[in-house]
Amino acid sequence: MTTPRVFVTRLIPEKGLDMARQAADIEVWQDPLPPPYETLLQKVKGLDALLCLLTDQIDANLMDAIGPQVKVISQMAVGFDNIDIPAATARGIPIGNTPGVLTDTTADFAWALLMSAARHVVDGDKFTRAGNWKTWGPIDFLGPDVTGATLGIVGFGRIGQGLAKRAQGFDMRLLYFDTQRYPEAEQKYGAQFVEMDTLLRESDFVSLHTVLSKETYHLMDDARLKLMKPSGILINTSRGPVVDPAALYRALSSDTIAYAALDVTDPEPIKMDDPLLTLDNIIIAPHIASASFQTRDKMAMMAAANLIAGLNGERLPNCVNPQVYDK
Ligand code: GLV
Repeated sequence: MTTPRVFVTRLIPEKGLDMARQAADIEVWQDPLPPPYETLLQKVKGLDALLCLLTDQIDANLMDAIGPQVKVISQMAVGFDNIDIPAATARGIPIGNTPGVLTDTTADFAWALLMSAARHVVDGDKFTRAGNWKTWGPIDFLGPDVTGATLGIVGFGRIGQGLAKRAQGFDMRLLYFDTQRYPEAEQKYGAQFVEMDTLLRESDFVSLHTVLSKETYHLMDDARLKLMKPSGILINTSRGPVVDPAALYRALSSDTIAYAALDVTDPEPIKMDDPLLTLDNIIIAPHIASASFQTRDKMAMMAAANLIAGLNGERLPNCVNPQVYDK
């Protein structure tokens, strides 16, 4: 039997690569930047499997370029909006992802953004480095208290609930909106389901934890940002296009809302001439919410486990399109 051939689109943690090496002949893209789409089209030809990242565009054209022998496409991420899932399902290709293992790490980062935005951690650091710290200032760097404030969580899945758990320690009033109710989590975290407009009107902090879909594209537009309090702080660790960046610029530059803290942008990476980068009331991190040593190891191993199962013709431990097994 010939050893299966796999392409890995970037250097991932060694623990995952090690596992994949036991099962396949793997080629790893060594450049720190992702392979350009045209290069990827060439690289994937005739592969048995692909291990990819959220920075790769995995569309029908690319699936056809791989060829009908492909057994699995395994993504090292929980989100998969870069992959055309219906096209994969139509071709019988199982798609793997890495849910669960990054929940706490991502919720930690959303919490870090929330605290940093409220208490000017990043602005304070910039101020110090610029040589502006001349004295202790009684009215400098004031921000809202987090303790006792109202937090609105949009999308109450694993990560949204993870944020609720952290907020409990800060005696926050918790509101959430989702397309489904979570009665158990409501009890556990003392969270109240409200309609989106109510959440936006009543929250001091609004944190986004939805998937990116047709329904959530530009969910935070001019109208919704206007519903937020002028003192409101928006946190986004979901996907960039859930927020309309032009509307966010208008809201932040006209004091419609007070501050935003983003881990994700539209597009990614953000362009250096994006007007958002001219503002002082925003923190922009480079999509690093799941970046802990332990979590990235777990994600890489989970992606390898999906890859190996697929190569062995077994059901993926975490498959986003299980319909492929219905046939
Ligand atoms: C990160 O954004 C992920 O989807 O894993």
